[in-house]
Amino acid sequence: MANSRSGDSMIARVVRVLETFEADRTVQSTSEIGRRAGLPSSTVHRIVDQLADEGLLEFDEDHNARLGMRLWELALRGSTALRLRQAALPHMERAQAVLRQHTQLAVLERGEALFLERLSHPDAGANIARVAGRLPLHASSAGLVLLAYAEADIRNPVLAGPLTAVGPATITDPARLRIELARIKRTGFAAAPASIEAVSTGVAVPIREAGRVIAALSAVLPRESYPDRAIPVLREASQRIEADLRAARS
Ligand code: PHB
Repeated sequence: MANSRSGDSMIARVVRVLETFEADRTVQSTSEIGRRAGLPSSTVHRIVDQLADEGLLEFDEDHNARLGMRLWELALRGSTALRLRQAALPHMERAQAVLRQHTQLAVLERGEALFLERLSHPDAGANIARVAGRLPLHASSAGLVLLAYAEADIRNPVLAGPLTAVGPATITDPARLRIELARIKRTGFAAAPASIEAVSTGVAVPIREAGRVIAALSAVLPRESYPDRAIPVLREASQRIEADLRAARS
Protein backbone atom coordinates (compact mmCIF):
# COMPACT_ATOMS: atom_id res chain seq x y z
CA MET A 1 0.00 0.00 0.00
CA ALA A 2 1.50 3.31 -1.07
CA ASN A 3 2.08 5.66 1.82
CA SER A 4 2.04 9.44 1.57
CA ARG A 5 4.98 11.59 2.58
CA SER A 6 3.38 12.07 6.01
CA GLY A 7 3.41 8.27 6.39
CA ASP A 8 -0.31 7.53 6.46
CA SER A 9 -1.61 4.80 4.19
CA MET A 10 -4.01 5.27 1.28
CA ILE A 11 -6.71 3.56 3.34
CA ALA A 12 -6.13 5.93 6.27
CA ARG A 13 -6.54 8.90 3.91
CA VAL A 14 -9.72 7.45 2.40
CA VAL A 15 -11.12 6.94 5.90
CA ARG A 16 -10.24 10.54 6.78
CA VAL A 17 -12.18 11.69 3.70
CA LEU A 18 -15.23 9.58 4.59
CA GLU A 19 -15.13 10.69 8.24
CA THR A 20 -15.56 14.34 7.29
CA PHE A 21 -19.22 13.49 6.58
CA GLU A 22 -21.21 13.87 9.77
CA ALA A 23 -24.88 13.67 10.76
CA ASP A 24 -25.19 17.45 10.44
CA ARG A 25 -22.75 17.80 7.51
CA THR A 26 -23.84 15.44 4.78
CA VAL A 27 -22.98 17.46 1.65
CA GLN A 28 -19.58 19.09 1.08
CA SER A 29 -17.41 20.50 -1.67
CA THR A 30 -14.16 18.69 -2.40
CA SER A 31 -12.14 21.60 -1.01
CA GLU A 32 -14.13 21.52 2.27
CA ILE A 33 -13.45 17.78 2.49
CA GLY A 34 -9.75 18.41 1.91
CA ARG A 35 -9.59 21.08 4.59
CA ARG A 36 -11.39 18.95 7.17
CA ALA A 37 -9.40 15.83 6.30
CA GLY A 38 -6.13 17.78 6.36
CA LEU A 39 -5.23 16.64 2.83
CA PRO A 40 -3.62 18.62 0.02
CA SER A 41 -5.89 19.68 -2.83
CA SER A 42 -4.47 17.31 -5.47
CA THR A 43 -4.73 14.32 -3.08
CA VAL A 44 -8.29 15.02 -2.00
CA HIS A 45 -9.46 15.61 -5.60
CA ARG A 46 -7.96 12.29 -6.67
CA ILE A 47 -9.48 10.37 -3.73
CA VAL A 48 -12.91 11.98 -4.01
CA ASP A 49 -13.08 11.39 -7.79
CA GLN A 50 -12.01 7.77 -7.42
CA LEU A 51 -14.54 7.17 -4.62
CA ALA A 52 -17.24 8.72 -6.82
CA ASP A 53 -16.21 6.46 -9.74
CA GLU A 54 -16.80 3.47 -7.46
CA GLY A 55 -20.15 4.83 -6.20
CA LEU A 56 -18.90 5.30 -2.64
CA LEU A 57 -19.44 9.05 -2.98
CA GLU A 58 -22.01 10.79 -5.17
CA PHE A 59 -21.89 14.31 -6.64
CA ASP A 60 -24.94 16.54 -6.85
CA GLU A 61 -25.61 19.03 -9.67
CA ASP A 62 -23.34 21.62 -7.94
CA HIS A 63 -20.57 19.01 -7.77
CA ASN A 64 -20.84 18.75 -3.99
CA ALA A 65 -20.26 15.28 -2.62
CA ARG A 66 -22.34 13.07 -0.31
CA LEU A 67 -21.87 9.48 0.83
CA GLY A 68 -22.99 7.15 -1.94
CA MET A 69 -25.81 4.65 -1.87
CA ARG A 70 -23.27 1.96 -2.74
CA LEU A 71 -21.47 2.63 0.55
CA TRP A 72 -24.76 2.19 2.41
CA GLU A 73 -25.42 -1.03 0.49
CA LEU A 74 -22.02 -2.52 1.30
CA ALA A 75 -22.08 -1.38 4.92
CA LEU A 76 -25.40 -3.02 5.61
CA ARG A 77 -24.70 -6.25 3.80
CA GLY A 78 -24.63 -8.95 6.44
CA SER A 79 -23.78 -6.44 9.14
CA THR A 80 -24.46 -7.21 12.80
CA ALA A 81 -26.13 -3.80 13.03
CA LEU A 82 -28.72 -4.82 10.44
CA ARG A 83 -29.38 -8.18 12.08
CA LEU A 84 -29.88 -6.53 15.46
CA ARG A 85 -32.02 -3.76 14.03
CA GLN A 86 -34.25 -6.23 12.22
CA ALA A 87 -34.75 -8.32 15.35
CA ALA A 88 -35.45 -5.20 17.40
CA LEU A 89 -37.72 -3.22 15.11
CA PRO A 90 -41.09 -4.99 15.66
CA HIS A 91 -40.61 -4.86 19.44
CA MET A 92 -39.42 -1.25 19.35
CA GLU A 93 -42.56 -0.36 17.39
CA ARG A 94 -44.73 -1.99 20.03
CA ALA A 95 -42.90 -0.22 22.88
CA GLN A 96 -43.10 3.08 21.06
CA ALA A 97 -46.85 2.68 20.45
CA VAL A 98 -47.37 2.15 24.20
CA LEU A 99 -45.00 4.87 25.39
CA ARG A 100 -45.77 7.37 22.60
CA GLN A 101 -42.18 8.62 22.99
CA HIS A 102 -38.91 8.26 21.08
CA THR A 103 -37.65 4.68 21.29
CA GLN A 104 -34.11 3.94 20.21
CA LEU A 105 -31.49 1.25 19.82
CA ALA A 106 -27.79 1.86 20.47
CA VAL A 107 -24.57 -0.15 20.51
CA LEU A 108 -21.13 0.54 21.95
CA GLU A 109 -18.79 1.67 19.18
CA ARG A 110 -15.28 2.98 19.84
CA GLY A 111 -16.11 4.46 23.22
CA GLU A 112 -19.45 6.04 22.29
CA ALA A 113 -23.11 5.06 21.99
CA LEU A 114 -23.90 4.66 18.28
CA PHE A 115 -27.62 4.81 17.47
CA LEU A 116 -28.80 2.17 14.99
CA GLU A 117 -32.47 3.05 15.07
CA ARG A 118 -34.78 5.73 16.38
CA LEU A 119 -38.56 5.65 16.24
CA SER A 120 -40.30 8.91 16.99
CA HIS A 121 -43.86 9.83 17.78
CA PRO A 122 -45.86 12.97 16.88
CA ASP A 123 -46.46 13.58 20.62
CA ALA A 124 -42.81 13.03 21.57
CA GLY A 125 -40.60 15.85 22.79
CA ALA A 126 -37.04 16.90 21.97
CA ASN A 127 -34.45 14.29 21.02
CA ILE A 128 -30.93 14.93 19.83
CA ALA A 129 -30.13 11.28 19.03
CA ARG A 130 -29.93 10.54 15.29
CA VAL A 131 -29.73 7.26 13.39
CA ALA A 132 -26.00 6.72 12.71
CA GLY A 133 -25.30 9.48 15.25
CA ARG A 134 -23.37 9.17 18.48
CA LEU A 135 -23.73 10.28 22.10
CA PRO A 136 -21.21 10.09 24.94
CA LEU A 137 -21.44 6.97 27.11
CA HIS A 138 -21.50 8.80 30.45
CA ALA A 139 -24.21 11.28 29.41
CA SER A 140 -26.91 9.25 27.61
CA SER A 141 -29.08 6.62 29.26
CA ALA A 142 -28.26 4.14 26.46
CA GLY A 143 -24.57 4.94 26.91
CA LEU A 144 -24.74 4.45 30.68
CA VAL A 145 -26.22 0.97 30.20
CA LEU A 146 -23.54 0.08 27.63
CA LEU A 147 -20.83 1.46 29.93
CA ALA A 148 -22.15 -0.37 33.00
CA TYR A 149 -21.81 -3.75 31.29
CA ALA A 150 -18.68 -2.93 29.24
CA GLU A 151 -15.29 -4.59 29.73
CA ALA A 152 -12.87 -2.82 32.07
CA ASP A 153 -10.71 -1.66 29.15
CA ILE A 154 -13.65 0.45 27.94
CA ARG A 155 -15.01 1.46 31.38
CA ASN A 156 -11.77 2.47 33.07
CA PRO A 157 -10.67 5.19 30.64
CA VAL A 158 -14.14 6.78 30.93
CA LEU A 159 -14.01 6.56 34.73
CA ALA A 160 -10.57 8.15 34.66
CA GLY A 161 -12.27 11.29 33.33
CA PRO A 162 -12.55 14.07 32.50
CA LEU A 163 -16.34 13.71 32.12
CA THR A 164 -17.77 16.51 30.01
CA ALA A 165 -21.09 18.06 31.05
CA VAL A 166 -23.54 17.73 28.15
CA GLY A 167 -26.80 18.63 29.96
CA PRO A 168 -27.40 20.32 33.33
CA ALA A 169 -27.42 17.00 35.22
CA THR A 170 -24.71 15.01 33.40
CA ILE A 171 -22.65 13.04 35.93
CA THR A 172 -19.20 14.65 35.79
CA ASP A 173 -17.77 13.18 39.00
CA PRO A 174 -16.09 9.81 38.33
CA ALA A 175 -16.87 8.55 41.87
CA ARG A 176 -20.57 9.26 41.31
CA LEU A 177 -20.44 7.63 37.89
CA ARG A 178 -18.92 4.49 39.41
CA ILE A 179 -21.79 4.31 41.92
CA GLU A 180 -24.36 4.91 39.17
CA LEU A 181 -22.89 2.13 36.99
CA ALA A 182 -23.09 -0.29 39.93
CA ARG A 183 -26.72 0.76 40.49
CA ILE A 184 -27.52 0.14 36.81
CA LYS A 185 -26.07 -3.37 37.02
CA ARG A 186 -28.04 -4.05 40.21
CA THR A 187 -31.38 -2.79 38.92
CA GLY A 188 -30.98 -3.48 35.19
CA PHE A 189 -31.91 -0.02 33.97
CA ALA A 190 -30.53 3.51 33.61
CA ALA A 191 -32.55 6.70 34.12
CA ALA A 192 -30.80 9.91 33.19
CA PRO A 193 -32.90 13.03 33.77
CA ALA A 194 -31.51 16.21 32.16
CA SER A 195 -28.25 14.44 31.42
CA ILE A 196 -28.29 15.20 27.68
CA GLU A 197 -30.82 18.05 27.60
CA ALA A 198 -32.65 19.94 30.35
CA VAL A 199 -36.03 19.03 28.86
CA SER A 200 -35.73 15.23 28.71
CA THR A 201 -35.13 12.08 30.71
CA GLY A 202 -33.48 9.12 29.00
CA VAL A 203 -34.36 5.62 30.21
CA ALA A 204 -32.54 2.50 28.97
CA VAL A 205 -32.27 -1.25 29.49
CA PRO A 206 -29.72 -3.78 28.20
CA ILE A 207 -30.24 -6.28 25.37
CA ARG A 208 -28.25 -9.48 25.80
CA GLU A 209 -27.11 -12.16 23.43
CA ALA A 210 -25.22 -15.30 24.50
CA GLY A 211 -24.87 -13.81 28.00
CA ARG A 212 -23.30 -10.55 26.81
CA VAL A 213 -24.87 -7.11 26.65
CA ILE A 214 -24.79 -6.23 22.94
CA ALA A 215 -27.04 -3.16 22.83
CA ALA A 216 -29.24 -0.80 24.79
CA LEU A 217 -32.91 -0.07 24.20
CA SER A 218 -33.89 3.40 25.36
CA ALA A 219 -36.74 5.89 25.44
CA VAL A 220 -36.50 9.65 25.62
CA LEU A 221 -39.26 11.00 27.87
CA PRO A 222 -40.25 14.55 28.73
CA ARG A 223 -38.28 15.59 31.81
CA GLU A 224 -41.33 15.77 34.08
CA SER A 225 -42.50 12.19 33.38
CA TYR A 226 -41.56 9.36 35.73
CA PRO A 227 -39.46 6.62 34.18
CA ASP A 228 -41.30 3.94 36.19
CA ARG A 229 -43.89 3.32 33.50
CA ALA A 230 -41.36 3.11 30.69
CA ILE A 231 -38.99 0.61 32.31
CA PRO A 232 -41.29 -2.47 32.24
CA VAL A 233 -42.27 -1.64 28.64
CA LEU A 234 -38.60 -1.43 27.58
CA ARG A 235 -37.78 -4.58 29.56
CA GLU A 236 -40.49 -6.59 27.89
CA ALA A 237 -39.37 -5.37 24.46
CA SER A 238 -35.75 -6.22 25.29
CA GLN A 239 -36.71 -9.75 26.39
CA ARG A 240 -38.64 -10.30 23.17
CA ILE A 241 -35.70 -9.03 21.09
CA GLU A 242 -33.39 -11.40 23.00
CA ALA A 243 -35.78 -14.31 22.30
CA ASP A 244 -35.88 -13.48 18.57
CA LEU A 245 -32.08 -13.22 18.42
CA ARG A 246 -31.85 -16.64 20.12
CA ALA A 247 -34.37 -18.14 17.72
CA ALA A 248 -32.49 -16.73 14.72
CA ARG A 249 -29.27 -18.42 15.90
CA SER A 250 -30.75 -21.85 16.53
C1 PHB B 1 -30.59 9.40 26.33
O1 PHB B 1 -30.28 8.35 25.75
O2 PHB B 1 -30.51 9.50 27.56
C2 PHB B 1 -31.05 10.59 25.56
C3 PHB B 1 -30.86 10.64 24.20
C4 PHB B 1 -31.28 11.76 23.49
C5 PHB B 1 -31.88 12.82 24.16
C6 PHB B 1 -32.05 12.76 25.53
C7 PHB B 1 -31.64 11.63 26.23
O3 PHB B 1 -32.29 13.89 23.47
